[in-house]
Order: sequence, then C-alpha cells, then structure tokens
Amino acid sequence: MNYFITTPIYYPSAKPHMGHAYSSIVTDVFARFKRLDDHEVFFLTGTDEHGLKIQKAANKEKKDPKIFCDEISKTFKDLSKILNLSNDDFIRTTEERHHKSVQFLWKKLENSGDIYLSKYKGWYSVSDEAFYNDDEVIEKDGKKISLPSGSPVEWVEEESYFFKLSAWQEKLLDFYKKNPNFILPKSRKNEVVSFVKSGLKDLSVSRKSFSWGIKVPNNKDHIIYVWLDALTNYISALDYPNEDSEKFKKFWPADLHVIGKDILRFHAVYWPAFLLSAGIKPPKKVYGHGWILSGEEKMSKSKGNILDPIQIIKDYGLDQLRYYLIKEVSFGNDGNISKKSIENCINSDLANNYGNFCQRTISFSEKNCKNKIPKYSEFSKNDLKVLNAFSDSLEKIRSMIDNQLLTDYIKFIVDRIFDANKYFNDEEPWSKKDDVKRLNTIVYVSLEIIRKISILLFPIIPNTAEKALLNLNLKIKDLNFKSIGEHFFLKPGSNLNNQGILFKKIVNK
Ligand code: ME8
Ligand code: MG
Repeated sequence: MNYFITTPIYYPSAKPHMGHAYSSIVTDVFARFKRLDDHEVFFLTGTDEHGLKIQKAANKEKKDPKIFCDEISKTFKDLSKILNLSNDDFIRTTEERHHKSVQFLWKKLENSGDIYLSKYKGWYSVSDEAFYNDDEVIEKDGKKISLPSGSPVEWVEEESYFFKLSAWQEKLLDFYKKNPNFILPKSRKNEVVSFVKSGLKDLSVSRKSFSWGIKVPNNKDHIIYVWLDALTNYISALDYPNEDSEKFKKFWPADLHVIGKDILRFHAVYWPAFLLSAGIKPPKKVYGHGWILSGEEKMSKSKGNILDPIQIIKDYGLDQLRYYLIKEVSFGNDGNISKKSIENCINSDLANNYGNFCQRTISFSEKNCKNKIPKYSEFSKNDLKVLNAFSDSLEKIRSMIDNQLLTDYIKFIVDRIFDANKYFNDEEPWSKKDDVKRLNTIVYVSLEIIRKISILLFPIIPNTAEKALLNLNLKIKDLNFKSIGEHFFLKPGSNLNNQGILFKKIVNK
C-alpha cells in the first residue's frame, strides 16, 4: 500500500517558528506510523517562495528575492533535520521542476475554458496572499482588515486572468457530499461547505504589478497567482506533468494534506477545483489542524510573538518537544504552550512514567535474570490482560491514525504505560525470588510491554524509542506495527543491553 502525505509549503519570509514545527511534526508522526505499518510512504515538505509577500520581505532587506529565499529556505530545510523529519523530498517553488509543472497546469486550465482575461477590483491581503469579499472586510482602528484572518487588506484594481471558480460550485458541493471525509475535522468542513454554498466568485489567478513569480505562458506581463503556484507543488514533486511517471501513479491522489486551519479555503475549495478542471483527481483528504497560541493570539511571524523551536530543543530535547506537542495540543483544536507545561509533561509522562518503567524493568532484569531475556512459563490472567490490551487493539489503533485521532492515539499509549507500571507494582517481581519461574514470567511480560509501547511511541519520539528498543537489542527496521500483537516476540536467552536512563527529570533550581 502506498501513502502520500504532505505538510504545507511554508513562506520563507522569516525563519520558522513553533507553528511550522507543529505541522511538520504531526505530519511526521503519521508518516512514520504508516511506514511502520508496512506502507510505502512519500512524505513531502518544502517552501513557497513566490509572490508579493516574499518580494516585499526581500526588498525590505535589500536582497534579490532568489538570494533571500535561498537563505531562509535553508533555515526551513535545516529545521526539518533538527526535527528529525522523515520527509522523502523537500520542494522549493523556485525549482525548475516546479516551474514546468505550474505552467503546464495553467495551460490545462486554459484548455478547459476555465481561464479568461478581465480586470480585478477588490480587497487583497499581502500577508495571507488572499482575495477577500466585501463582506469579509471590516474596519478596525481606522484600518481595513480581513475578518477571517485579521490581517490588513489593500484595494487592488488591475488587469488579471480569472479562473471560473463559479462554474465549479455545484461540482464541489457534490464532491464534498460524495467524499464525506475530504475535509477534517468535521467542524471545519461545515465552514467550507457554507462558504461554497454562499456563492463562489471567479478567482483572480494572475497579477501584473510585480514580477516575482512564475510567468503566465504566452503573456509575460502576468505572474501566476502564488496560491495556484504553491498548491501545484504537491504534484510537481511527483513529476507532474508526467502523469505516467512511477511516482505520480503510485502516490497521486494524495492521501492526506496536513495544513493549519488558516489555509483551509485554498486546499478544500480552490485546489480541488483546479484539479477537477485539469482532469486530475483531487486529494483524498485535507486535515486543518488548530493553532498554537501564544497567550490568546495565534503565534505568527507577522505578530512577532513566536517561540523558537530550536531554543526549546536546546533547552529540553527534541523528543521532549515532539511528545509535548502531540500530547498537550488536542489535535484539531487550538492549543496553548508554555515552558511550565512542557516541564510538567516531561517529568510526569516521560521521566516518571515511560522512562521509569523501562529503567526499572531493565535494571531488575539485569540483576535478577543474568542480563538476559528470561524464559517464560504459563501466563496468568493478569499477564494476559496487559498483553491483550495491545493485541486486541490493532484495528482500533489503525483507525485512530487513519482518522487522524492523534489525541486518542497518544491517550491509548499513556494508558498502556500506566497499566505497565501498575502491573509491575502489583506483581512485585522483587518478592518472587524463591519462585524463579514466576519472576521470569513477570519480567518477560514486562519486557514485551516495553517493546510494544516503544513501537507505538516510535512515530512520536523516534530517537528515544529506538534507544529503548536497543535495551532489548532490537532495531526498529526489524519491527513493524503488527508485531505489537505478538506475545512471544522476544527470544528467551538473548542478551539485554541497558541503555541507561531515557529522560532526565527537569529540576527547577
Ligand atoms: O500559508 N499554529 O505558509 P505559512 C499552528 N505558504 N500551525 C501554524 C501556526 C500556528 N501558530 N503558524 C503557522 C502558507 N502554522 C503558505 C502555504 S501550502 C500549498 C502553502 C502552520 O508560512 C500551519 O500549518 O504562512 C499553517 O497552515 C502554515 O504553517 C502556514 O505557513
Ligand atoms: Mg501564514
């Protein structure tokens, strides 16, 4: 089975912040789970480098836009390494492969009769690179701003090519009806459907008043609208326009576009309309997650209220951050993050719960089982209960991931870790020194639980989960998700390999 998953491609107008890190980490968790579950995964991320927003940012620093983009795009690429993303490609919209793809798609839309030349008169937000209707613009402190995003808008009047979006209104509504999970979470789907029902106007898809972008074929005075350009990245990376390429055939339509709720309209309305017009299948699903807030506000480059993911990683560690974001932000909703709560989370969940269970079990085995995986004897009811909690849940866990119920997924894991510590406490292996068979069985079961929990945690905290598995002399590449259903995976007699503590507790001075 193949699986194509993407993050948004980020604007390199300023260096990345926690919001970008969040989208990328979440996407990485899904990608890693799918790989672990024997799928061939293609995970794409990148940067969105054209348009007025970028041109203005470059001008401000008196830099050539391409040089400006090279510098900042690199900080996004570096971040993808720092975050340990398992992306298979990193696309930049200034690359040749993407130019070709966008211009080809433009011609397809033209050939479908969906492009015409006219004049645009209306509101435009440079910060969102978005057009807004009159009823979406309000006045605040003497300035016009867009209601959906709160960003300033300006009045634009210029010659422009249009895409006949109005002609796609009914077809889109029909598409949403036939594909009830196309837009998730459900609450956001309603927003999109009512926006489309309220009437779609034709969309301005070119600009004339600046030059930083991909030219309209056959009319060099026009630059293709940056969103039409940007969205196309998802197929450029699969060799579009070559629809016969191995990659395109394997991975299109995309299984999941992970995005923030701020850019849902582009992905759930414009993108499927462009694709349908070009005779290409729309993606299977778009998930619009919530915002990382700083106080009450969305964390954003333009607001300057950012928490630097690189600094947090320096202070607390990468897996600590990855775990925290997945655990603390209820997936789909907005979430507030703070240093206080990351510290609590590291101590309670990672150090005291998961880390502690691994540590106590491995140390106990080292001392009492000759540092080897012991032989098991008959399992008690309680042994089976803790083990079956995994084997009975394979389909349930898969469906959590396939429905993006990430918060349920991590809750399932946390519950298993609590069970595990309770099991060890209740069974008291230290008091069984005169019943070696029972002691060995308890240890065997506990080591099996470490294996299963670490496999489930691998998508979230890949480095630490690998380290935990090394305790058992296992490598993640030799394991898959399904194997959490096996009770007797570990080979009695093989050596253990104590890796020491997994998470340091944060002590406040
Ligand atoms: O919109 N909380 O790029 P962008 C959570 N180039 N996620 C956040 C966030 C926050 N506070 N801030 C940003 C663009 N994000 C376009 C996308 S795609 C074809 C083109 C994440 O740099 C979230 O995923 O403004 C959001 O949708 C994305 O970054 C916007 O990044
Ligand atoms: Mg933005």
